[in-house]
Amino acid sequence: MQRGVLVTGGAGYIGSHTTVELIKAGFEVVIVDNFSNSDISSLDGIERITGVRPTFVEADCCDKEALRRVFEAHDFQSVIHFAAYKAVGESVAEPMKYYRNNLLSFMNIVELMQEYKRPNIVFSSSATVYGDAETLPVTEQTPRKPATSPYGNTKQMAEDILRDVTAACEGIVGIALRYFNPIGAHPTANIGELPRGVPNNLVPYITQTAAGVRECLSIFGDDYDTPDGSCQRDFIDIVDLARAHVVAIERMLAGKNRARYEIFNVGTGHPVSVFELVNGFEAANNLKLNVRIAARREGDVPAVWADTTHANNELGWRAERALDDTLRAAWAWERKVRGIE
Ligand code: UD1
Repeated sequence: MQRGVLVTGGAGYIGSHTTVELIKAGFEVVIVDNFSNSDISSLDGIERITGVRPTFVEADCCDKEALRRVFEAHDFQSVIHFAAYKAVGESVAEPMKYYRNNLLSFMNIVELMQEYKRPNIVFSSSATVYGDAETLPVTEQTPRKPATSPYGNTKQMAEDILRDVTAACEGIVGIALRYFNPIGAHPTANIGELPRGVPNNLVPYITQTAAGVRECLSIFGDDYDTPDGSCQRDFIDIVDLARAHVVAIERMLAGKNRARYEIFNVGTGHPVSVFELVNGFEAANNLKLNVRIAARREGDVPAVWADTTHANNELGWRAERALDDTLRAAWAWERKVRGIE
C-alpha cells in the first residue's frame, strides 16, 4: 500500500509523535516496538490525539523472524527506523549492547526491505556525527568527526550502511535525518518523553526538578568559550521534528529525491545556551528551579547548531514552534505524568 508506513520504535518519544503526524497526513501506520525504553500508554495517547489506534506488533527488531512476519502480514512502502538505544554514557560502558542492538536491528530492516521490495527508508541519525565541528553552524557537508561514543559510532555506521546499500541496490531509497536536540511534548499533553530512571538529557531533568522528583539541576560547565559560558545547542520542538519525517516520506513517494541517499539536518538553525534554556523554562512557566553549577560533563561539545538551508529548500520544511511554547508543553506533560495540577 502506497501510504503504509512501518514505524520501528513507534511507542517511543520521537516515534509516537511521528506516528501522530503520519496519521494526520493520511498514512496507515504499523508500529513495531519491544517497550525496551517506552510504554504501551503512548499508544493510548496517539489514539486520543488522532482517533486512530495504529496497528501494533510487540517485537524486537533484532529478531529477524519476528520482523519477517511483520513484512509478510503488512503491505507498506516505507519504513521509519527509530528503534535504537540512545544513552551515550551507557554505550561507553556497554559497547556491545549498543553495536548489537542498534546495528543488527538496522541490518534486519534493510535486508527485509530488499527481500520484500519495500523501497523507502528514513533513518534516525544525530548531530552527534558532527562531533566538535570546526565551523558553525554545521551543514550536511561539514565533515563528520570520529565518533566519541559507541552510540555515536552506531549512527555513523548505520549512515554508511544506508549509503552503500542505496548505491548498490536500485530498489532502495533512503533519507538520514540528523536530529539536533529534540525537546518538548505534544501540545495536548497526551504523549511526551518518558525517560527511565535518572534522565541524561537536559529538558527532562529540568521538568523533573520542577516537579520535585530531582532536588537540583546541575549545569554542566559555565566556563566554555561561548557567549555566556554554558554549552549551546539547537533545541528542536518534537512536533516540528516529527513533521520532518512526514515530508521525507512524501518526498520519496513522489520520487522527488535528488539521489537515492540524502541527508538532512533537522534543527531550528538557532543556538540556545543551557542558561538561556533554563531561564526560558522558568519564564515560560512562571516558576523557579533549584540550579547549581557543576563540572563539565565528559564528551560534551561546547556548541553545535544546524544550518537548515538544505531542509528548508529541498523538503520545504522548517521549525515553526516558538521555544516558550515548547517549554510550556514540556512542563504540561511532566505535570500530567506526575498528577500535578
Ligand atoms: C546527547 C547526545 C546526542 C543524542 C542526545 C539524545 C552527544 C554528544 N550528544 O545530546 O547524540 O542524540 O543526547 O539522547 O552524543 N546538561 C546540563 N545538565 C543536565 C543535562 C544536560 O547542564 O542535567 C547540558 C549538557 O551539558 C549539554 C546540554 O545540556 O550542554 C544538552 O545536553 P543533553 O540534553 O544531554 O543533549 P546532548 O548532550 O546535546
